[in-house]
Amino acid sequence: MKERTILISGGTAGLGLELARLLAQDNCVIVFGRTPVAAAPGQAFEQFSADVADLESLLRLRETLAQRQVVVDVLINNAGVFDSGDVFKPAAQAAGAKIIATNITGPLNLLRVFGDDLARSRHPAIVNMSSVLAYAPAGFCPVYSGSKAFLSAFSKGLRAAGSGRGLRVVEVVLPMLDTSMTSAIRIAGLNKLAPRAAAEQIVRELATNATQIRIGEAGIVMKLLRLIPARIQARFDAISQQYLKDQPL
Ligand SMILES: NC(=O)c1ccc[n+]([C@@H]2O[C@H](COP(=O)([O-])OP(=O)(O)OC[C@H]3O[C@@H](n4cnc5c(N)ncnc54)[C@H](OP(=O)(O)O)[C@@H]3O)[C@@H](O)[C@H]2O)c1
Repeated sequence: MKERTILISGGTAGLGLELARLLAQDNCVIVFGRTPVAAAPGQAFEQFSADVADLESLLRLRETLAQRQVVVDVLINNAGVFDSGDVFKPAAQAAGAKIIATNITGPLNLLRVFGDDLARSRHPAIVNMSSVLAYAPAGFCPVYSGSKAFLSAFSKGLRAAGSGRGLRVVEVVLPMLDTSMTSAIRIAGLNKLAPRAAAEQIVRELATNATQIRIGEAGIVMKLLRLIPARIQARFDAISQQYLKDQPL
């Protein structure tokens, strides 16, 4: 992907930050997160603060960008929140509402606010960060898994809806990454991929005409889910049960 104007939600940390660093080599990249972050020395992209769950803050961001004549070609829906725990407890249910506001309503808000930009672009694209949990949901994070299943289905539907407008929609299926999102998660036998490695693969495959990009071990899991779905889901269920048992009450 070259010479595009790319907006990355949640591009201030983790995977989004690594993507921003790589994509800024050949594109104009703008990132935002909720927390204002000082630009690193020599940083090649601009950053702002806005909340994907807060429509007003996105409208303010759009206004700021419009004043600079910025028209977004590519929207990367990367901002996301995660929570794990017993979904029958109030704390997990409250966290679930936040997950839905960020991971589901967030991309819809961004489409609402930047849809006109995409309509004006000659090469409009939306990239959604999904997860293997969209395909093999886990009992220790059912709402998060469901939010990623939404993004997966949304990507397919959006692709069909936007094909007449030349909109490219890419779903990125991620395995577990080594970012602050998963710092509290320790599961024996499960590897965490470095966000830099994931970002490198995403950038490589965005240069092709891929519509679904399976990162690292997500590729193997997706193949196994096609071949032996019940066994793979049973493995995820066993991991979830163990994880919930190990949690302090
Ligand atoms: N880590 C994994 O194992 C994993 C696996 C599968 C999929 N994913 C997905 O990959 C994406 C990136 O994950 P990550 O691991 O890089 O996460 P991360 O390290 O926790 O970073 C999340 C980024 O999103 C921003 N953010 C969170 N809520 C936001 C909001 N409401 N509005 C705007 N920005 C917000 C955060 O900044 P602020 O906190 O300052 O807002 C931060 O920049 C997420 O969609 C995640 O669900 C991750």
